[in-house]
Amino acid sequence: MTGFRSSVVYQIYPKSFYDSNGDGVGDLRGVIEKIPYIASLGVDHVWFNPFFPSPGRDNGYDISDYCAIDPAMGTMEDFEELVEALGAHGIGVMLDMVLNHTSTEHEWFRKALAGDERYQRYYYLRDPKPDGSLPTNWVSKFGGPAWEPFGDTGKYYLHLFDRTQADLDWHNPDVREEVAKVVNFWRSKGVRGFRFDVINLIGKPEALLDAPEGTDDRAMYTDGPDVHTYLQWLSEQSFGQDADSITVGEMSSTSIQACIGYSNPANHELSMVFNFHHLKVDYEDGQKWTLKDFDLAALKRLLGEWALGMQEGGGWNALFWNNHDQPRALDRFGDADRFRYESATMLAAAIHLMRGTPYVYMGEEIGMSDPGYTTIDDYVDVEARNAFAELVDAGHDEEEAFRIVHSKARDNSRTPMQWDSSAGSGFTDGTPWLQPTNQAEVNVAHEETAGRILPFYKRLISLRKSTPVISEGDYEPYAPDHPDVLAYIRRHEGRRLLVICSFRGHETEIDVPEDFLDGEVFVSNYPARPLRPRLSLSPYETLALLV
Ligand code: GLC
Repeated sequence: MTGFRSSVVYQIYPKSFYDSNGDGVGDLRGVIEKIPYIASLGVDHVWFNPFFPSPGRDNGYDISDYCAIDPAMGTMEDFEELVEALGAHGIGVMLDMVLNHTSTEHEWFRKALAGDERYQRYYYLRDPKPDGSLPTNWVSKFGGPAWEPFGDTGKYYLHLFDRTQADLDWHNPDVREEVAKVVNFWRSKGVRGFRFDVINLIGKPEALLDAPEGTDDRAMYTDGPDVHTYLQWLSEQSFGQDADSITVGEMSSTSIQACIGYSNPANHELSMVFNFHHLKVDYEDGQKWTLKDFDLAALKRLLGEWALGMQEGGGWNALFWNNHDQPRALDRFGDADRFRYESATMLAAAIHLMRGTPYVYMGEEIGMSDPGYTTIDDYVDVEARNAFAELVDAGHDEEEAFRIVHSKARDNSRTPMQWDSSAGSGFTDGTPWLQPTNQAEVNVAHEETAGRILPFYKRLISLRKSTPVISEGDYEPYAPDHPDVLAYIRRHEGRRLLVICSFRGHETEIDVPEDFLDGEVFVSNYPARPLRPRLSLSPYETLALLV
C-alpha cells in the first residue's frame, strides 16, 4: 500500500459484482473469488458499498446493524477472509460508514419508537408547528417532505433521505460515542479505509428552521460548523490513530472552502473529499430529472476551480466520473456507440492525471455503459421510481418521463459486472437482481484478451505510482477557453506534464507549447504521429506529453 496521493481506489458495489451462490445477488465469497482480477488492476484499496444488515429500501444505505454482515452477502468469517486475502495483495479494504442516518429498523429507532427516551434523543424528533404543519419545510432528497410521523406520539422524525432512513442527532454525545464504536469495531478487524456517507450533513444546527421562501433548503443543514468539530473528534477517537488510515467524505452540495477544511491535513479530519458539482453539468437549472446535453465549458470551469482551489487551500480531492449513484459517464460525456474505446480512455486520462486520488467504479475499466432498459419496470431503485411517478404527476407523458429517468437513474451503474457474454454476464447462474444488457459486446473476458480499455486503465493506475509529477505535481489549467478540449499542466521538481483531452466526436485543433513538442508521449489513445505546434486531434483523443 502506498500513501493516498499515489493510490488508486477501486469501488465495488457488492450486490452486483459476483454472485457465488446463484441467488442473483452478489456476495462476499464472490468478491473473494475475483481477487485475482482486482489485484491485476494494480489498485491499492477497494471501497465496498454497504453490506451490513439492512431492509434494503435504499440498497444497504438504510442500515439496521452497523457491526454485522448482511446474511444475503455472507458471514463475518467471509469478511475476515476477504480482508486477509486482499491484504495479501497489498490491497486495503475501505468500508462505507453511513452515520448520518440509520434504518428505522435499527434497534435504536425501534427502542425510541417503543418509548425509550434515551433512544428518542438519538434522532431529530420535533413537534409540528402550532398550525399543525410539519416542523420545517425541508424536502427529502428522494422526494416528498423530510418529516414523517413518529408513531402515534404526535411528533415527527427527520429523514433527509427515504422515510426509512432516520437522521441521527449528532449533538447528542451518546450518538457520537456510538458511531466511534462502530468505526473502532471495523478497525479491530483490520480495516484502515473508511468512506463516510453524506458526512457533511451531520452538523445540523440545534434549532431546525424553515428555509426562507424561495431559497434552497439544503443551505439550512449542509456544511454546518459542527461538521468539522465532529469529524475532528471522530478522527481522534478512531481512524486518526492509524498512521495508514485513508478516509474520504462524501460531501453533498458542498463548497471548496468547506472541503479544504475537511481535507487539509492540518485540521485532522479526512484524507480527501468527494464533491459532485462536475456531475451536474447536464442538469437543467440544477435539476437532476431533466434532459440536457452536458456543458463542457461548465465542466472545465468546475474541474479547474476545484483543482486550483483545493491546491491553494492544501485540500485533497477524490477524483471520479462514476459511482453507484451516477449514470455511466461514458453515456454522459463520451460516445458509447461510436467511440467507446476512445471516449472511455479519454475520460480515464482526464481524471487519472489530475491532482487528487482517482476512484475507478467497477465496470468503468472495461467501458461499461448504461443498460438499454425500455420501461420503468426494469428499474428497481426507489429514487428512480419516485422520480418517474413525480414526473408523470407533473404532466410529462410516460415516454418522456422514462427518457428522463433513463438518462439519470442510479441503477444505470448498478447493473451486474459483465464478466463474460453469457445471459447472466458471468455474474450469476441464477436470475440477476438487475438485468445486464450489452454483455455480448462489453465484458471482462473480451477486454482481457483483445480489449484496449482495460490495459489503458492498468497503465494509468501504475503510472500514478511511478510518476511523482502525477501524484505530487501542481496543477495549472491550460487553454481554459478552448471549446472542445480540457487541458492542464502538472509540474513537479522540474518535470512537466501537459494533458490534452478532447471531449468531442469530431476533429479539433489545439496549440501545443513549443517546449512540449520534443516531449515524451506519455499517454495516448491513438497511434503515434509527429507532434506539431498546431495539433489536430481525432475524436475523443487524449494525449499526455512529458518534459
Ligand atoms: C449517499 C449514497 C447513496 C445513498 C445516500 C443516503 O449519497 O451514496 O447511495 O442513497 O447517501 O445514504
